[in-house]
Amino acid sequence: VDLTAARERAAALDAADPVAHLRARFRLRDGLVYLDGNSLGAMPAHLPARMAEVVEQEWGRDLIGSWNTHDWWTAPERVGDLVGRLVGAEPGQVVVADSTSVDLFKALVAAARLRPGRTVVVTEPGSFPADLYVIDSVAELLGLTVRRVPPAEVPAALDDDVAVVSYSHVDYRTGELADLAGITAATHSAGALALWDLSHSAGVVRVDLDAHDVDLAVGCGYKYLNGGPGAPAYVYVARRHHDAMRQPLTGWTGHARPFAMEGRYEKAPGIAGMRTGTPPMLSMLALESALHCFDGVEVDAVRAKSQSLTSLFVELVDGHLSAYGLEVVSPRDADRRGSQVSLRHPQAYAVVQALIARDVVGDYREPDVVRLGFAPLYLSHADVVTAVERLDAVLTAGEHHDPAHAVRHAVT
Ligand SMILES: Cc1ncc(COP(=O)(O)O)c(C=O)c1O
Repeated sequence: VDLTAARERAAALDAADPVAHLRARFRLRDGLVYLDGNSLGAMPAHLPARMAEVVEQEWGRDLIGSWNTHDWWTAPERVGDLVGRLVGAEPGQVVVADSTSVDLFKALVAAARLRPGRTVVVTEPGSFPADLYVIDSVAELLGLTVRRVPPAEVPAALDDDVAVVSYSHVDYRTGELADLAGITAATHSAGALALWDLSHSAGVVRVDLDAHDVDLAVGCGYKYLNGGPGAPAYVYVARRHHDAMRQPLTGWTGHARPFAMEGRYEKAPGIAGMRTGTPPMLSMLALESALHCFDGVEVDAVRAKSQSLTSLFVELVDGHLSAYGLEVVSPRDADRRGSQVSLRHPQAYAVVQALIARDVVGDYREPDVVRLGFAPLYLSHADVVTAVERLDAVLTAGEHHDPAHAVRHAVT
């Protein structure tokens, strides 16, 4: 393909990009086009020095005293507030803890207990598997029924039996953005609580949790928040529920007086009541450090860049690559899309592997999806054109037919 015109346009867009300077906050090797920041965010450039400090001084030298002197003990709430700024939550409503799966479990049980007598949880059929598994398990534990309903049909599925409505803000497979405001409002009209999984929207899409009266939310720390592999997740509970909420994993760090070592649980006031056990402090501090990549950055600017990147990609795929049997699965309307573009291809897995061999890293999702995430903090429009060029090269030469690219790895 001849992408000369596209390259010129990309150069102009990059020259005018108000957040282009943020790329310098990350370490990415030259030549690599990293389109998997929706799965594992890139490493912030300042992170190795900060982690060396944490390991050598805070842990190595100051040892257990660091819980006080380096404020380790309050890190879950402090880092939670940094996440809160990105998702439209006033301070004191987000705590960083555990994994998304565990936080979803805690949030869902807490939500169901806030609506005693109601027996139904509504969720989407195509949700991320962890969410479906956790919801089914909570339903079994609490004797609830699960209704699996596509997001667009939620209002019609609501009645007086519904306790909780639990959806992902952005569909992990298609990148479709759900109507968070509309579903939350409909949920409240039915007297139920809205619980959102923000794993694929936090840091790249405006969420406005407080403004939309969302009740609870959870999300990953290692995707667009760049907290590193296995970074802890976060959970939001709106302040109005803090006194009444009762989460099920009543660990000692969420106790009102953890060091009184009392024999009976009494929930800590505020969002600290969602804590369970000792936080993974190295990962917690890595996430805190990574969140400073957003210093001085407004989500609106990031969202505008993200939409510009994904729109350019969709346009170039439509214009140059449709003959290869690629189909854009993500919504074409940028306002209905998160920060990823998913392409359907009969040999999607091999296409992803062949792309990786050409230094364009994306991932594969069952059954036939090439999933490409466009992390707006460190990608340029020039990267988008390069990705299209290399995708064209793979498909033109049939590189995805190489049997080596059909070998399934443990992580796809
Ligand atoms: C939407 C969504 N929810 C939950 C999870 C699972 O998160 P964790 O492994 O932290 O439990 C993921 C992971 O990719 C996800 O994409």
